[in-house]
Amino acid sequence: MTTTDELPEHVRRNREQWDQWATEYVANGEVSWRLGPGDEKWGIWDLPERDLRLLPDDLAGLDTIELGCGTAYVSAWLARRGADPVGIDNSEQQLATARRLQVEHGIEFPLLHGNAEHVPYPDASFDLAISEYGASIWADPFLWIPEAARLLRPGGRLIFLVNATLLMLAMPDEERPATTELLRPQRGLHRLEWSDDDSVNFALSHGDWIRLLREAGFEIERLAELYPQPGAATDFPYVTTEWALQWPTEEVWVARKTG
Ligand SMILES: C[S@@+](CC[C@H](N)C(=O)[O-])C[C@H]1O[C@@H](n2cnc3c(N)ncnc32)[C@H](O)[C@@H]1O
Repeated sequence: MTTTDELPEHVRRNREQWDQWATEYVANGEVSWRLGPGDEKWGIWDLPERDLRLLPDDLAGLDTIELGCGTAYVSAWLARRGADPVGIDNSEQQLATARRLQVEHGIEFPLLHGNAEHVPYPDASFDLAISEYGASIWADPFLWIPEAARLLRPGGRLIFLVNATLLMLAMPDEERPATTELLRPQRGLHRLEWSDDDSVNFALSHGDWIRLLREAGFEIERLAELYPQPGAATDFPYVTTEWALQWPTEEVWVARKTG
C-alpha cells in the first residue's frame, strides 16, 4: 500500500488538486453517464463518437482499463457496449462520484484508488487501455505509456485523448485563451505547471510521442486532431471557438501493442 508521502511529487500534488476540483466535475459526470451506445461525446467540444469512431467496433467481452477514470463515464460507455471495465484514479473524491453513479445506473465494475503509472494488475491483463484527459495528461508519459504497454495483451489497443501539442505552445495559462503566438518551446516539452494552481500536467511533441510509443512496443494506428463543430462552445477559458476552428485543441492517439 503506497502512502501519500511515498507518492511522486506530481502525483501527490495532483491528488490534492483533483480532490478539490471533484465537485466541479460532478455535473459533467452525471450528463456523460447518461449517454448510451452511439451517443457518446468526447472532449471539451462534445464531439460525437458517431463521427469520430474512436472506439473499436466490437467491445464485447474485452477487458478494459481506464487510466485516470475520474467519474468513470468512459468505462460506463465501454460496459454498455459489452466490455468488462476497470477504472483507476488518483482522486478518492472523483471516485466517490463514480461509485454513486455506478449504483444509480446499475453498472458496476472495479474502481481502484491509485496512480496509473503503477497499476496493481499483472502483465497482459487487458485488451484495451483508454484515457480521456486522465493519466494521458496528468501522469508522466515516460511512466504511464510503458505501464499501459505492460498491462495490455499482444494486439491490445491504447486510445488516449490529450491537449493538442500546438495548444500547449500557445496557451498563456489555464485561465487565459490560447494566442496566435508560440509562448514556450516545443523542444523539451514535457512537464507543465500553470501559475494559477498547484497541479502538474504533461505534454509531448508529436516526435516524442511517436518515439515513446514505438519504444514501448506500440505501432501507431491513428492520430486524430480534433476541431469543434462551427458554433460549438466550451466552458473552459483556455481556448476560444475561433482559435479551435483553426488549430486543433485536442488529439487522440490510437496505438496497438505489437508482439
Ligand atoms: C479531467 S479528469 C478525466 C477523467 C474523466 N474523463 C472525467 O472527465 O471525469 C482527470 C482525472 O485524472 C486523474 N489523475 C490525475 N493523475 C493521475 C494519476 N497519476 N493516476 C491516475 N489518475 C490520475 C484525476 O484524479 C482526475 O480524476
